Amino acid sequence: MKVLIVGSGGREHAIAASVAKSPQVDKIYCAPGNAGIGQLAECVPIGAMEFDRLVAFAREKEIDLTIVGMDDPLVGGLVDEMEAAGLRVFGPRKNAAILEGSKAFSKDLMKKYHIPTADYENFDDPEKALAYLEKAKMPVVLKADGLALGKGVLICQTLEEAKKGVKTIMEDKKFGEAGSRMVVEEFMTGREVSVLSFVDGKTIRIMSSAQDHKRALDGDKGLNTGGMGTFSPSPFYTPQVDAFCRKYIYQATVDAMAAEGRPFKGVIFFGLMLTENGPRVLEYNARFGDPEAQVVLPRMKNDMIDVVNACIDGTLDQTDLVFEDNAAVCVVLASKGYPVSYEKGFVIEGLEHFDGKEGYYCFHAGTKQTEEGIVTNGGRVLGVTAKGQDLKEARSNAYRATEWVSFDNKYMRRDIGKAIDEA
Ligand code: AMP
Ligand code: GLY
Repeated sequence: MKVLIVGSGGREHAIAASVAKSPQVDKIYCAPGNAGIGQLAECVPIGAMEFDRLVAFAREKEIDLTIVGMDDPLVGGLVDEMEAAGLRVFGPRKNAAILEGSKAFSKDLMKKYHIPTADYENFDDPEKALAYLEKAKMPVVLKADGLALGKGVLICQTLEEAKKGVKTIMEDKKFGEAGSRMVVEEFMTGREVSVLSFVDGKTIRIMSSAQDHKRALDGDKGLNTGGMGTFSPSPFYTPQVDAFCRKYIYQATVDAMAAEGRPFKGVIFFGLMLTENGPRVLEYNARFGDPEAQVVLPRMKNDMIDVVNACIDGTLDQTDLVFEDNAAVCVVLASKGYPVSYEKGFVIEGLEHFDGKEGYYCFHAGTKQTEEGIVTNGGRVLGVTAKGQDLKEARSNAYRATEWVSFDNKYMRRDIGKAIDEA
């Protein structure tokens, strides 16, 4: 069969690597892809938001299955357009991808269906938000309603900061139209865990847990990024936490979406915080996490195509997910200056060291093939993933492998997985 993957990051490289393992797959295309994905797939220069061109391409090449990796096209309704053209596609429709596309929607859903999350209020008028904040307990969390590349969240320690935050989000529109509406949320503390799941509209199957490192600098300092590294499984995701989430969060979310006439088919990513009072949902995403996918998918034993087909056909109840009994760590190699400003176009050396090495992966995020070779082409450049028998071994393998590649302005966090030592 022929598969088209939509997206161009490390997540899409990890998806492509999983798809490539399936004996059912003859050919993979990726739009637009990157230099690493190009080693597994034929990259086609069509942007993820060029819906008409994607539909035309899938028809012309007689694509059997399209997998949409990225949030923007999902929230924008690419799945609906492909389905309308008679194409088979994996991902939530627009009316379900709103679970990620609108934080106000997802908060209202959780409230209505009693899914544990932080207390909140939604605002579309900055004056009302300011009046509310005068009486709110600090610190407080402000969130732009719409998609903002994971950056539309402000944690404000004081009323002064919170007032500035309202201006930043709602008046200066730093995150664009995403900030026309805003959620003001209670500040919570605890460990964060990412749980990805496959969903077929009714049934949900949970993947192995992971933990991201969102801040740019060691010790969780610096600005929020798309993610600087991950490990899987999370030792903090205990059987007790799992039991709680299965009882109050996972199926409840799937049932809530169905009850709202928005059946969700695809991947739900639960961003959880393990608070003193039990797990709470921080956020939902309507797709695989990045870089979570880079540690979770390499450990999945199932044929990815079988699982995706079960989601589309509504037969996931007949599928069990199986994960290797080991661990994986991913360290992101970024360009110095990310996420603010950074240079691109530096030649990357040493990628061949990964060839044929079992349990080691170099997922490309921002890279480009040029005449001089593969060059850096983004803030996050590569995701170096290694497996190990346990998290400690995986971490030492991953950090060793980060030394195999070099490029100018290479930057990484040195403490990915440090939390493992506290487990
Ligand atoms: P989100 O995009 O909603 O996951 O928010 C990004 C990050 O902000 C999360 O991963 C948390 O680290 C932090 N965050 C979001 N909401 C809260 C909250 N209610 N309390 C504390 N931290 C939060
Ligand atoms: N790693 C967080 C995300 O994919 O949103």
